[in-house]
Amino acid sequence: MNIHLTKEPQKNNEKNNSDHFLNDVLTGLHSSPKHLSSKYFYDKKGDELFQKIMAMPEYYLTRCELDIFQNKTAELSKAIRSDDEPFDLIELGAGDAMKSTYLLKYLNKKGTDFTYMPIDISGNILSVLENNLKEQLPDINITPLEGEYFQMLKKAMKLSSRRKVILFLGGNIGNMTQKEAEKFCASLHQLLNSKDIVLIGFDLKKNPFTVLNAYSDQSGITQEFNLNLLSRINRELNGNFDVEQFEHYESYDPITGACRSFLVSLKDQQVNIAGETIDFEENEVIDMEVSQKFSKSDIEYLAEKSGFLIEGEITDSKNWFVDSIWKVNK
Ligand code: AVJ
Repeated sequence: MNIHLTKEPQKNNEKNNSDHFLNDVLTGLHSSPKHLSSKYFYDKKGDELFQKIMAMPEYYLTRCELDIFQNKTAELSKAIRSDDEPFDLIELGAGDAMKSTYLLKYLNKKGTDFTYMPIDISGNILSVLENNLKEQLPDINITPLEGEYFQMLKKAMKLSSRRKVILFLGGNIGNMTQKEAEKFCASLHQLLNSKDIVLIGFDLKKNPFTVLNAYSDQSGITQEFNLNLLSRINRELNGNFDVEQFEHYESYDPITGACRSFLVSLKDQQVNIAGETIDFEENEVIDMEVSQKFSKSDIEYLAEKSGFLIEGEITDSKNWFVDSIWKVNK
């Protein structure tokens, strides 16, 4: 196998990353309402907790999209292969690539000429991915890219000029607000060329109990997942959150489709982070994460607004999740 881990020189990278982290945390906690970014959930412990979430009976998203990747692989492959030109398969937020591995195996079996470029913010999960693929698909070309989506996407564009197929799975787009998602898709459109294809996974609006339960499990793993960000701040930014004094609260609005995670302060308290003091009132919340749910027309609106044409939609057998295939309209 052919692996080159492309990243900035280690020292600078780590320094910049922790500066951004500190900056974002302090800005978010000095705002009103207070907020933290869910992109920081994924340190080593957070990766482990998310793996546990994916295995929870309540968390249907992963199983639905796995159903698509296991049982509709031929359809997926047909949609992205177009005229059999070689291409770069770039996966944003690849994680452990559990789902995409089914597609990679299929493409490989068909003798398709492609390079797999997984992008993830977690170097930890990228090495898990590399080890998995080394075992399962020793002869595919893989170029892992560690960092933020657009920085690494630009890097991928510089590394090769082949046709691009972008995978953005798992409902990751749901972590953006409507405005952020529009901006994200428009930037993606700007970066891509007319034969390029984007495949985005959307979690569909469904019975509100089903959605709410997926994010407020009885076992408390989702609460732990949220609280881990406070612990991460303690570990990496010299903070002193008492995580016992915060409780997870989930809400779902079936009209807007916004499923939102909060941490509630259980008392008046002060927290120090890197020498700064943050005051919390009893019952004050930190806005932690949005996991947006979509209707088919929400998806159409987003595609059109950002300059894409919807080429196809592949859903799971329950019709709970859709992988929407978009062509660049230039
Ligand atoms: C990884 C963004 C798809 O929003 O469903 C799971 C993260 N948060 N449980 C989601 C998550 C709480 C997940 N995504």
